[in-house]
Amino acid sequence: MSKSQFPNGFLWGGAIAANQAEGAWNIDGKGPSIMDIEILPEKYSLTSILGYSHDDDSIEFALKDDDSLYPRRRGIDFYHTYESDLELMKEMGFTTFRTSINWPRIFPKGIEQEPNKKGLEFYDRLIGKIVDLGMEPIITISHYEMPVYLVKEYNGFASREVIDFYLNFATTIVDRYHDKVKYWIPFNQVNCLDGWGEYGSLGLKRGYDIQTVYQAVHHQFVAAAKLTKYIHEKCPESKVSVMLGDNTSYPATSKPEDVFATTQRNQMQQYFFSDVMIRGSYPGYAKRYFSEKGISLCITQEDAELLKQNPVDFLTFSYYFTGTIAYENGDIVSKSNPYLEKNKWGWAIDPLGLRNALNHYWDRYEKSIFISENGFGHEDIIEDGRIHDTYRINYLREHIKSIRDAIGDGVDVFGYTSWGPIDIVSASQGEMSKRYGYIYVDLDDHGLGTAKRVRKDSFYWYKDVIKSNGKDL
Ligand code: BG6
Repeated sequence: MSKSQFPNGFLWGGAIAANQAEGAWNIDGKGPSIMDIEILPEKYSLTSILGYSHDDDSIEFALKDDDSLYPRRRGIDFYHTYESDLELMKEMGFTTFRTSINWPRIFPKGIEQEPNKKGLEFYDRLIGKIVDLGMEPIITISHYEMPVYLVKEYNGFASREVIDFYLNFATTIVDRYHDKVKYWIPFNQVNCLDGWGEYGSLGLKRGYDIQTVYQAVHHQFVAAAKLTKYIHEKCPESKVSVMLGDNTSYPATSKPEDVFATTQRNQMQQYFFSDVMIRGSYPGYAKRYFSEKGISLCITQEDAELLKQNPVDFLTFSYYFTGTIAYENGDIVSKSNPYLEKNKWGWAIDPLGLRNALNHYWDRYEKSIFISENGFGHEDIIEDGRIHDTYRINYLREHIKSIRDAIGDGVDVFGYTSWGPIDIVSASQGEMSKRYGYIYVDLDDHGLGTAKRVRKDSFYWYKDVIKSNGKDL
């Protein structure tokens, strides 16, 4: 029997992203975001969807294309259903809800001086509703929703000018909602550069080089530090975070080369980002990596000072699976972990890995941690109007136990939002059938269905978890 328990006031809830849920992609003055040009591929595959559309020709094609299916354009129509959807979350007892602000809903091209009033009015209603229901809103300012215009004309964060465009957007949001929102995430998963997150977070076109990527990353660091400074000055009680997509990896064997390759992988693919945003400077291992790769970044004295003076307040991360690393023929390579089962999409199921990651982060930073995503993508079947998603409950139960154990290890974890509490469009696949929700949405991969919401078995299970503050698992 574990002696550890969740602290009183622990935040329980769920997280979504605007682009995967809202739909309403071109109404009330909204411009297109990079997610609105992501097509549903005929054969769903990780590499064939995200990051595919971002060169000038394919962007132009997608913007004019009405025939193909662009799943985020309809999402689950949360733009119109948010009230009843949030009421269902409240029925589960949510004390927090995380969502993002769809950047081109507020600044359609990203370069305007004045925000789109109707876009702001939507978030007035949405955030107002979250607060009225007694949930703590957690706002991701940018969750892969850069306006297409900034990608086309500026190559996203590769251009320094985009820092100011981002800040104009972010400070508009902070000014408007700082009395309702305490917790801010400037960027979703800043570290996901080698998977599908790269284009989304940085807004780069295809075919960029590694020098451009890291210069864009640096600009994103500067943007986050400027925003952190602004938030701290304007509302000292607010908290700003760095968000990682956690994938703390294991060595494939105890061979020292595998172990060290794993250390290097974990350094450059995740700690680098939190080290800069929490410790305020570029670590030695990163400087060495850049020099070995022939990368030379433009980092001004002012940038370095800004990063030093404006560390974030807490760490947040998404957790789905762990990786395994080996050193082969001079390269760091990913391996399959023979000890772990995988879901249909190849994501290794590893609850203990979450406790391991939490301990590593705590040992490194001693900063409070919020788990902003975790969940089990799975197809669901309706039987007699019910969805018996025991597989999802099992996954979540083991992961929540692991958090509880980490709290017992002394890690300060103050909240948990599972991913997609209501089914939404999958980020990597574009399909609906990779479902995470406690609430089923009757839409298929092609957007067909009634869109009716149905409580799954996990709905009632999570309700009990929240009610008992994590005792009844
Ligand atoms: C996270 C992203 O990494 O993974 C989400 O922040 C995403 O946007 C989630 O939806 C799950 O991934 P997927 O591809 O299964 O939707």
